[in-house]
Amino acid sequence: MKDQSRRAFIGKAFAGVAGFGAVASLIAMKKTWDPLPSVVSAGFTTIDLSALEAGKLSVVKYRGKPVFLLKHTDSMKKNDARDVVASNGDRYTVAIGLCTHLGCIPSYREDKEDFKCACHGGEFSAAGVQKFGPPPRPLDIPPFNLNGTTLVLGEEGEQFKKLHAVEQAATLA
Ligand code: FES
Repeated sequence: MKDQSRRAFIGKAFAGVAGFGAVASLIAMKKTWDPLPSVVSAGFTTIDLSALEAGKLSVVKYRGKPVFLLKHTDSMKKNDARDVVASNGDRYTVAIGLCTHLGCIPSYREDKEDFKCACHGGEFSAAGVQKFGPPPRPLDIPPFNLNGTTLVLGEEGEQFKKLHAVEQAATLA
């Protein structure tokens, strides 16, 4: 009788250890299936552009980089090769906020409606086109898709493809 209860105890102990081990391995397996934090942060970013105020710069972080979002005022010059146009006709600048000279973050000057890079004095128009100083090209355009006024950074929509093709052609020229 004593032997039987000892066997039963050992059996339950083994079952307990095996059960615990199974749960622990499932947790470990799930961790390997989950994307790394760096991959999660490289996902899509959705922004409602209609919430932006004209002439005020908004900056969102996308894949570790600042992205400039600027709703145009009526006084800003149209630039069909750069402007992102929403379904209601509002125009926006959507650009990676890193100077194309050596990567500093330019600041937006509301009074002049342009971007100024403090590092070496480079200047960009409101559309992100270089106009003074050492920057060799306009601010880069991140991949985006626009549905109505909803902007999704990380998707390559029709407008992005069009602007990107113009950008590439200008770079190669
Ligand atoms: S890094 Fe902007 S002008 Fe040099």
